[in-house]
Amino acid sequence: MRKIINLNNGWYYKPEYRKGLEREEDLSGFVRVNLPHTNLEVPYNYFDEKSYQFQSCYKYPLQIPREMEGKHIYLHFEGVMAAASVYLNGCFVGEHKGGYTPFAFRLDPAYCFEREPNMITVVVDSTELNDVPPFGGQIDYLTFGGIYREVSLGLYDPIFIEKIKVETGQVLAVDKSLNVMVFLKNGQQLKGEGSIRVTLQETGGQVVQTQVFPAAIGSDPDPLVFTLEGLKNIKLWDVDHPHLYEIRVELKINEYSDEYCDRIGFRQAEFKKDGFFLNGKRLKIIGLNRHQSFPYVGYAMPRRVQEKDAEILKEELHVNLVRTSHYPQSKHFINRCDELGLLVFEELPGWQHLGGEQWKAVAKENLREMIERDWNHPSIVLWGVRINESADDDGFYTDTNRLAKQLDSTRQTGGVRFITGSKMLEDVYTFNDFVHDGIRGPLRDQQAVTGLPAKVPYLVTEFNGHMYPTKRFDQEERQMEHSLRFLRILNAAGLDDSIAGTIGWCAFDYNTHQDFGSGDRICYHGVMDMFRLPKFASAVYKSQVAPAIEPVLEPVTFWARGERSIGGVLPLVIYTNCDYLQLQFGEERLEQKFYPQSREYPGVLFPPVIIDLALIGPEVVGTWGLAWKDSIITGFYQNEAVIEKRFCANPLPSTLAVTVDDPVLTAVEKDATRISVKVLDQCGNLLPFIDEIIKLELHGPGRIIGPQEVVVKGGAVAFWVETNNEPGTIEVTVDAQSFEKKSIRIEVN
Ligand code: GAL
Repeated sequence: MRKIINLNNGWYYKPEYRKGLEREEDLSGFVRVNLPHTNLEVPYNYFDEKSYQFQSCYKYPLQIPREMEGKHIYLHFEGVMAAASVYLNGCFVGEHKGGYTPFAFRLDPAYCFEREPNMITVVVDSTELNDVPPFGGQIDYLTFGGIYREVSLGLYDPIFIEKIKVETGQVLAVDKSLNVMVFLKNGQQLKGEGSIRVTLQETGGQVVQTQVFPAAIGSDPDPLVFTLEGLKNIKLWDVDHPHLYEIRVELKINEYSDEYCDRIGFRQAEFKKDGFFLNGKRLKIIGLNRHQSFPYVGYAMPRRVQEKDAEILKEELHVNLVRTSHYPQSKHFINRCDELGLLVFEELPGWQHLGGEQWKAVAKENLREMIERDWNHPSIVLWGVRINESADDDGFYTDTNRLAKQLDSTRQTGGVRFITGSKMLEDVYTFNDFVHDGIRGPLRDQQAVTGLPAKVPYLVTEFNGHMYPTKRFDQEERQMEHSLRFLRILNAAGLDDSIAGTIGWCAFDYNTHQDFGSGDRICYHGVMDMFRLPKFASAVYKSQVAPAIEPVLEPVTFWARGERSIGGVLPLVIYTNCDYLQLQFGEERLEQKFYPQSREYPGVLFPPVIIDLALIGPEVVGTWGLAWKDSIITGFYQNEAVIEKRFCANPLPSTLAVTVDDPVLTAVEKDATRISVKVLDQCGNLLPFIDEIIKLELHGPGRIIGPQEVVVKGGAVAFWVETNNEPGTIEVTVDAQSFEKKSIRIEVN
């Protein structure tokens, strides 16, 4: 029976490598670290991206109890940037190229039970290696470095289950079925009669079916395939009700046994010429692209923070799909997408550049690793098998499509391009449509893009981004235009059934190379900033949810007389899902009801309300020189006031709001949570232009990621607190000049 041991605590790290270090056992000069780990913490912005591009060395003294002798021992890595060479006791055991996919090496042939301990060494190359995607050209993001995802040790019998693939059948029929493919690792070429038990169970609930199948191990073809039929009362997985099932596969042969568990969902996902269909129903895709990077630690954030991103996308921004641009992302992120009902478009690593034969071989291997890792996730509805925005290369892309289909014939493929008339080798023409510059567009005509004689399944995979970079603390009019560009495109896509939907560029601002971004190594392309704090544009997405789930009312304004050119706040765009709004200006409550602009934006479910001079006189909120007043905007749903937003005419610093995402963390492994700091006025609105210096202090078993003194930008800032392996109470104090000290407590168990 297998035993999986997490190996994330107590690594030793040295930010350098010299030949021979892999054979040395002396740990002086190494620092103790826990995984996920970044090879170098960087400043928030204005840093040299070359600073983390170096070779480094990780060591782990491994001790396996004697009774495990005879087991087949594997070391599993979830992701190491960008290449890893692994040694045991100085002997080379394997090398892996590509920073975004998992790999494993067998250790037991080099493991010595007489020796205490056995030393694992991982030499990590975080330079931009020319033969490894995405490198070789320029890329608009940073890849950071280190063993930035988890590591585990697997102890197995000489025969064990390497992986399983589950394919659901007749998903829309009353009785459902599934095929389970079982891939065995039969290290000793064992032959004989064994058995496989397959059990399907509701997550945390009833067993649906369990069956034992005979298996002629060593003679039956690999993989073994088993079918469960007549599955009754199965609940489908969809975006509103993401029902999940557990599948357990148990192997028995002679004295050996193994057990492999995974989660699946029953759903049918199909891109057709007239849109995307989930379980036979059309669903307009409203998605965002996500980079997996964070301030200071780059890619190295633990499970909770990965999961939180999925929660932000689904529960805060209310999008229904995320594209893991431009590489496979953390398994924790994808697992959470399964649980939340957030669709995923996952693609192989790469950006614009195609390398030579070796490079392509690594790309194909990375594609295989991605699909084999993720083929059981119900959330994933499309594989991206083309290097993002690369030139056509029919030979290469015929291969990547063939490989994807061989591994997983149940999912369609896409391949993201920005060139028109590209050869369509995939099932879905996935296109980055950057035509909208405020005037042109908002979207191109499908057939003008594809150059094909007829419509094909078609998905817009990016728009906006570099066309209109916008900071969370940018001027109000720019932020309004930023938001309207998202709206115009969602509206256009909503009106055209031949567009399956859109995936905006992008969810979060991200660190980037000097060749891109605002000169400070940041692309301000997100609808949220790098701390996942919202810009106004995020409200375009947020408001597309039923008011019964969450009423939304987000006016695009800082509410000031003179922030905009000429003055005033008109036209006032208010993203809302309410039936109508009412406005109070000063003491005067206008009788008028302001309705959503459904005539102008019929393509979105919940168009914004836009108040302009045609609707109210200049004496209300218009002209320069008149008194500025407080206001209240109230949102009505089914004739009841369900939400209101107040603005004050004389905003002053009144509250320092300090909130933590999760007040309880674990000490078992590295854990982290975000603390947000907001400077609010009397009405609870951000003071967008305040320059407040915030001093942070932490007491207890943890540390603050990033600097302990930060400045508030656009009225807010955030940071993450990380645990070490000690339980206790963390207290973080936040000290700002204009306020009394605030503190937050986090329990670490
Ligand atoms: C696209 C690219 C993205 C990002 C975006 C900015 O061309 O695929 O990674 O660079 O432009 O708008």
